[in-house]
Amino acid sequence: MKTTIVYFSGTGNTWYVAQEIKTSLQNKGVDAQCYSIENPIFEDDQNLESLITTADNIIFGFPTYASDVPWPMQKFFKRLPQLNSSKDTAVFCTQAFGSGDGALIADKYLKDKGYFIKQTAHFNMSNNFYVPVFIRVFPVGDQEKIRKRNAKATEKVQTFAAKIVSGEQSIIGDNFFGHLIGNVQRGHFDALIKKINNLLIVDHSLCTNCNQCLKFCPEQNITENDSKITINDNCCSCMRCYQLCPVLAINITNKTTDAKKYPRFKGPTKSFKISELTK
Ligand SMILES: Cc1cc2nc3c(=O)[nH]c(=O)nc-3n(C[C@H](O)[C@H](O)[C@H](O)COP(=O)(O)O)c2cc1C
Repeated sequence: MKTTIVYFSGTGNTWYVAQEIKTSLQNKGVDAQCYSIENPIFEDDQNLESLITTADNIIFGFPTYASDVPWPMQKFFKRLPQLNSSKDTAVFCTQAFGSGDGALIADKYLKDKGYFIKQTAHFNMSNNFYVPVFIRVFPVGDQEKIRKRNAKATEKVQTFAAKIVSGEQSIIGDNFFGHLIGNVQRGHFDALIKKINNLLIVDHSLCTNCNQCLKFCPEQNITENDSKITINDNCCSCMRCYQLCPVLAINITNKTTDAKKYPRFKGPTKSFKISELTK
């Protein structure tokens, strides 16, 4: 069995789960490969088509944003090739607290193209949205708390991977409350993203012009002019620049300059590197 895993991750949680799924499938004898949608390989439509069509089944993953699909992943879904015959597909999302039907909502991009969602899963990971515009619940906590959360997700991955291998159908959130929670949260999606975009600010007194934010913005929404970083109007709210800026020069209102009150989430593991998100 050949499986292609394709994911988007803003700050590393979805990357972590995607890698764990790959390892679990490989341990079960599956030829599993894992790619970020930001991998340059996908710049070419033919590569995209080949990776999808040569796989027996596909797994898509993304972080839930107000129970919806992040813009970069939405755009990727729209680029997917139309399939001649239906292909088994699994979808997972990572979340901080809950998303109702947050993984299944991907079906609106997939079903008409021949991707048949057979399994969905939600993985509770560290909250990358502990920010002023949002209710400050579910703080990330220390390294040990992150490790425990990751370990629980890894355990859940084993069940998810086993279902994918056996072909057992298993869908989360396809019920009245799942759709209700999802629909209520999605009602805030566009406003939330716009709000974050408007509140992001760069502290130029701290910025060292490392240009990491610019290089790794998934929407190419950050530019530099005369050594000044500008965040433009097309932010997808992935939190990558805000959380991973090495000198905390990117803020969401002045409130987040208090890093004790708003500690940054530096990724799921101690050895995590931002460059993993584009591989
Ligand atoms: C704009 C935004 C909206 C979010 N909305 C939700 C949500 O509705 N439910 C939830 O449980 N987590 C929500 N989160 C938290 C993330 O989904 C969660 O931390 C995720 O694991 C981040 O994955 P990543 O590190 O791969 O980007 C949101 C995060 C962002 C940035």
